[in-house]
Amino acid sequence: MEDLSLHILDIVENSITAGASNIRIKINEDTKENLLLIEISDNGRGMDEEMLKNALDPFHTTRTTRNVGLGIPFLADAARDTGGDISIKSAKGEGTTISAAFRHDHIDRKPLGDIGKTLIVIIASNPDIDIIFEHKKNTSEYMLDTAEIKKELDGVPINAPGVIKVIENDLKEWFNNTNLMIK
Ligand SMILES: Nc1ncnc2c1ncn2[C@@H]1O[C@H](COP(=O)(O)OP(=O)(O)OP(=O)(O)O)[C@@H](O)[C@H]1O
Ligand SMILES: [Mg+2]
Repeated sequence: MEDLSLHILDIVENSITAGASNIRIKINEDTKENLLLIEISDNGRGMDEEMLKNALDPFHTTRTTRNVGLGIPFLADAARDTGGDISIKSAKGEGTTISAAFRHDHIDRKPLGDIGKTLIVIIASNPDIDIIFEHKKNTSEYMLDTAEIKKELDGVPINAPGVIKVIENDLKEWFNNTNLMIK
C-alpha cells in the first residue's frame, strides 16, 4: 500500500464490518519525539481473546470470500518497517482500538497520503456512522465530529453534496496549513 491513508481506510473498513456506530480516528505527529501515532477505535462487536490473538496472523479472518485477512498484518508491517509496532485492545461487545506507532522521520515511513479524501469517502458512504477525526501536529490541532455537524443540519443528510463540499473544504484548509508548518 502506497500511503497510510489507505491503511486507515482498511482498518476503518473492519470497524464498519464489526457494526460500529462510532469510529474515532486519531493522528498524532510529534516531530520532537520523532513519533507518528495513528489510533482507530470503534464501538463495534469487538473480539474475544482467541480472535484478538489471531488478528495479527494473515491466515485468520472472519471474512468468507477469501481466507486470509490482510488489513491488520499490513498495517503492522508498515509500522515495524520504521521500528514501530501496533497494539490492539478489544473486548467482545465493547469495541476495538488499534494503535500504530511509526518513527516519524524513518526513510521507510510511508507518507500520510490524502487523509482528507479518505475521510470524505468514509463519511459520504457511511452517513449513519458517527466519525470523529482528530489530528495533532506538534502544537496545532484539528477536530471533526460528524455527530456535531449532524445536529446543525436539521435533517439534511450529511452526505448531501453541499454538506460534503463544506467538510471537504474545511479539511483541505487544515491540511494546507499543516503542510506549511515547520516539519
Ligand atoms: N474493529 C474490529 N472489530 C471486530 N473485529 C475485528 C476488527 N478488526 C479486525 N477484526 C477481526 O480481525 C480479523 C482480521 O482483520 P484484517 O483486517 O486483518 O483482515 P480481514 O478484514 O478479515 O480481511 P481484509 O482486511 O484483508 O479484507 C477480521 O476478519 C475480524 O474478524
Ligand atoms: Mg480488514
